[in-house]
Amino acid sequence: MIAGVLIAGILLISYLTDLRNIKKKRRNELTENVSAKDPLQPVKPVDPETGLVIGPGFNLVKTNCLGCHSSKLITQNRASRTTWKETILWMQKTQNLWDLGENEPIILDYLARYYAPGKVGRRSPLTTIEWYELQE
Ligand code: HEC
Repeated sequence: MIAGVLIAGILLISYLTDLRNIKKKRRNELTENVSAKDPLQPVKPVDPETGLVIGPGFNLVKTNCLGCHSSKLITQNRASRTTWKETILWMQKTQNLWDLGENEPIILDYLARYYAPGKVGRRSPLTTIEWYELQE
């Protein structure tokens, strides 16, 4: 009984530190790659429904990654391919994410390409707004 509680506790702690390490890595990657930011990167077309960039692999991400949580978890994150892979492994280990099989490399390519640290940032500032004076 006590052993059971202990084991559950240890599992919970290792599960939490796992995710913390992944998050920390992602943050470090972000600061490491600031100089890689490319302001001339063209604006990517974005799917209005999910907010995900439309590109090779988009459909696979849409069908495999949005069943459990919002696409925001993806669009708000930036990571290298390795760290994306770790995030997927973490979900497979702890959140019952299924084996992605031969789709995994395609999904990883998509994530690493469009949600890489520093490369794709926020959208570029709008340049086509016509401002108008507020009437009192
Ligand atoms: C079987 C359910 C499930 C599927 C499918 C799933 N996830 Fe998750 N994912 C989760 C859960 C649960 C969390 C934790 C949510 C939270 O922290 O609120 C999570 C968290 C995340 C996070 C945030 C991790 C963090 O550091 O907080 C990212 C990024 C993510 N998922 C990406 C993906 C991607 C990419 C896919 C598709 C390959 C995917 N998820 C598919 C269950 C899933």
